[in-house]
Amino acid sequence: MSVPHVGDLTPSQAAELLADARERTLLLVGPLSESELHAQHSTLMSPVLWDLGHIAHFEELWLVRNLEGPVEFVEMPGMYNPFENPRSTRGALPLPGIAGTLQVMGEVRRRVLDHLVQPPTEAANVSPELLRDGYVFRMVAQHEYQHDETILQALQLKTDAPYRAPRAVRPPAARPVPADADGMVRFPGGPVEIGTDDRSAAYDNERPAHRVELPPFRIGAAPVTNAEYLRFLEDGGYTRRELWSDAGWAWLRESKVEAPQFWARGAEGWTVRRMDRMEALDPQVPVCHVCWHEAEAYCRWAGARLPTEHEWEAAASWDPAAGAKRMYPWGDEPPGPLHANLDQLAFEPAPVGAYPLNVSPIGCYGMIGDVWEWTSSDLSGWPGFRAFPYAEYSQVFFGPEYKVLRGGSWATRPGAVRNTFRNWDYPIRRQIFSGFRVARDA
Ligand code: AVJ
Ligand code: FE
Repeated sequence: MSVPHVGDLTPSQAAELLADARERTLLLVGPLSESELHAQHSTLMSPVLWDLGHIAHFEELWLVRNLEGPVEFVEMPGMYNPFENPRSTRGALPLPGIAGTLQVMGEVRRRVLDHLVQPPTEAANVSPELLRDGYVFRMVAQHEYQHDETILQALQLKTDAPYRAPRAVRPPAARPVPADADGMVRFPGGPVEIGTDDRSAAYDNERPAHRVELPPFRIGAAPVTNAEYLRFLEDGGYTRRELWSDAGWAWLRESKVEAPQFWARGAEGWTVRRMDRMEALDPQVPVCHVCWHEAEAYCRWAGARLPTEHEWEAAASWDPAAGAKRMYPWGDEPPGPLHANLDQLAFEPAPVGAYPLNVSPIGCYGMIGDVWEWTSSDLSGWPGFRAFPYAEYSQVFFGPEYKVLRGGSWATRPGAVRNTFRNWDYPIRRQIFSGFRVARDA
């Protein structure tokens, strides 16, 4: 008996995709004891066991229930529904232990694989749109990748006994980044294509592709580094009212923040903690763990501003000479270890210029990987947006309370980032792996 393809994936490829996602999840949580898996390290994050159970429930919803019956966003019952149980409350849930959680994860996966070998007979019920181009399989894999990054954010916040990071990758050394004297490069402006019509992996908020007319602008050839950020800090950046918006200043007064998260001032200078390692602040590494307000204040200090989402995407993807768009800064080849510091196992951002292939047509380096980059834009739907396959992925977050971040971080898996990928968070959040680059009108 021959098993039909699921979109452009063979059943084996679909199974491999899911197996690879699970292998990584289990590698990351492997060093954790039962009590560490149960603990809620911060009210901003979930206990790791919640993420694991939620990964299984999401997979069950989309690759079992919604492939057997009519497609709908069935609220996930009980504990693992993120809307019923907001993050701050998840530490109090009666979560099963690791053995029970692994059993559920394995049982759900068994049912998915059974379907791949023997598709359901009531195939008439299966939504062609979900299966087209293997979309639903990549969506479920991407969801697991995204929760892996969320787990790493939680583990970075763990201070009792630091997480013993399975460091498998050592990032390359810094290399010079060609730029104008102000560290920026110029985008000539003109019509650019924003978003994508891809239906195999892109989320609904990346679609549809559309033309936008952009005025010329200048943008940092690299993200803002620790050395640059330190100059802002030492120039009174955190004490000068005029550098902050009203909301930013209110946040600063309330939080009493004086430096990026995980920075500490020692006798020998500033140090940064990355999981179980304390390091001297590396001047050539992009600043990480700053919130949108800090990024905005830095830009004001530097006589610059944050790029808009349109500008960021144009700088990463548009080739003005060819009038063509690239899926990644270097082209359409999927990210591998030569391209960018992605895929989690470095456990730190790389110094600027470390990946010479990671450069866009106009000369922006490091747009993919290392640190997520804040933009000035609120999360919204592109013109012609249609929620698919469920409004709870992004539509319910549209509005001015969320700011968009682009480009992925060292903690992002390659399948969960591309030039059109849009991430979002509150402007006060800095436990995420977030940095930024500056922009200016040309
Ligand atoms: C896109 C990272 C904001 O974590 O809330 C995970 C990703 N969506 N499960 C989030 C997500 C559903 C989402 N972010
Ligand atoms: Fe989720």
